[in-house]
Amino acid sequence: MRLILQNIKELVQVDPKSRLWVAGKSMSEVQTVKNAFLIVQDELIKDFGPMHKLFESEFEADDQVMEIDCSGKMVFPSYCDSHTHLVFAATRENEFVDRIKGRTYEEIAVNGGGILNSAQLLAEMYEDELFDHAMVRIEEIGLTGTGAVEIKSGYGLTTQSEMKMLRVIHRMKQHSPLMIKSTFLAHAFPLEYRKKRKDYMNLLINEMLPMIAAEDLADYVDVFCDRGFFTMEEAEQILMAGIKNGMQGKVHANELANSGGVQVAVKFNALSADHLEYLDDKDISDLLGSETMPTVLPGAAFFLNLKLAPVRKMIDAGLPVALASDYNPGSSPSGNMNFIQSLACLKYGMTPEETIHATTINSAYAMGISENYGSIAKGKVANLFITKEISSYAVIPYSFGSNLIETVILNGEIQ
Ligand code: NIG
Ligand code: FE
Repeated sequence: MRLILQNIKELVQVDPKSRLWVAGKSMSEVQTVKNAFLIVQDELIKDFGPMHKLFESEFEADDQVMEIDCSGKMVFPSYCDSHTHLVFAATRENEFVDRIKGRTYEEIAVNGGGILNSAQLLAEMYEDELFDHAMVRIEEIGLTGTGAVEIKSGYGLTTQSEMKMLRVIHRMKQHSPLMIKSTFLAHAFPLEYRKKRKDYMNLLINEMLPMIAAEDLADYVDVFCDRGFFTMEEAEQILMAGIKNGMQGKVHANELANSGGVQVAVKFNALSADHLEYLDDKDISDLLGSETMPTVLPGAAFFLNLKLAPVRKMIDAGLPVALASDYNPGSSPSGNMNFIQSLACLKYGMTPEETIHATTINSAYAMGISENYGSIAKGKVANLFITKEISSYAVIPYSFGSNLIETVILNGEIQ
C-alpha cells in the first residue's frame, strides 16, 4: 500500500542528513518544505519534496495508492516521548488535593504515599487489568501525536510486581501501533528496606536485573538518583549491573536537589539524564561532549510547582535538550506532548523551533531510536501526523490545551 500526501501546506522537520540529535544554536532552525508531497510505502517514508517534483518521484505501477489532500494542513513527524510511567494501577488525585492544602510531594512520599502508594495499588491489580488501563492511555497519547514512547517499570518494587509491570509493557509492544521501549526503573526503597538498604540493593542487582534480562523484558535500566531516593554510589551500582545485563542506562537526576545524578549518567554513558531542575555550571559542562541527552520534563515541574530546569542556559551553552511528558499518576498525569511544547515555550523560554527538535529527534535519541524515528527523512519509519488547517507551526504550542491534530499515521497506516 502506498500513501501519497499532497498539497501539504508545510512539511515540518525534514532532515535529509538524518542527524541523530540537534544541539545548541542549531535547535533554533527547523527545516521545512512548503507546498510539499510525501510518499509512504511499506511503513517507511519513501520520498518527499515540493509538489512540482511529485511526478519525478518513482512510482511502482502495480501498487495500491491512496491519496490524501493536505491543503491548508501541515505534516510533522510524530512526537517521541522518551520518559513515561504510563503503566499504573490508579490515579492519585487525593495527593494532588493534599498538596493544594499545603503538604509537599517529598513529605507525602516519605510517609508511604507517592511511589509507595502506587506500588501497593499495583501489587493488588491483575496483569490483565493493568494492561487494559495502560492500553487506553497509550491510545489517548497516540491521538495527540505521540508515535513512540518509552515506558518504565518502578511501581512494582518487588521482583514479582516489577516483572508484572514489564510483562504488561512487553504485551503492549505487541498490541500497540506505537513504537515502545521498556525500561526497568529502580524507583524507591520499600518501607521494610529503609534500614536495610544493602539488602534491597542486593535484591535489585542479583535477583531482579538478571531475571528481567533472562526474559528480555527491559531495553534500558533507570534509577531515581535524588535526595531521599538512591545515592550516587547506589545509582552507579545499579547502572553497572544494568550494563552487565545488556541494558544501557538512563537516570532520574537532579529533580529535588543537586544529586550527582548527572555525573553518574555521564560516567556510564547513559542515554539520558532526566528532570534536571537543580543543574549547575559543572553539570552543564559535564554534559557537554557526553553521549547523554539532557531531558527536561515540564509536566512534572508544572504539576509539582518545582524550580525550572535552566533550559536557556543549557541550549546557549551548546547542549541538546529533549522534552518528555513523564506521564505518571504522581507528578505528571498527562502525556500530551502538545501541552509539553506549550509549557516549554511559556515557562522555559524555548522557541517553537527548539521544542520541535526537543520533542522529535532529540527525544528519539533519548530512547535510542533516532536512526529510524524523529524526523522526516527517506527510509525512516512513517510515523506522522497531519494537522487541522493551521496558520503556522507556532500555533501548536500557542494553542495550549487544544488538539490541532486531525490524522495520525503510524507505521505508514492511518489510525
Ligand atoms: O519521574 N521522580 C520520580 N519518579 C516519577 C514520579 C513518581 C511518582 O510520584 O509516582 C517522576 O516524576
Ligand atoms: Fe519519571
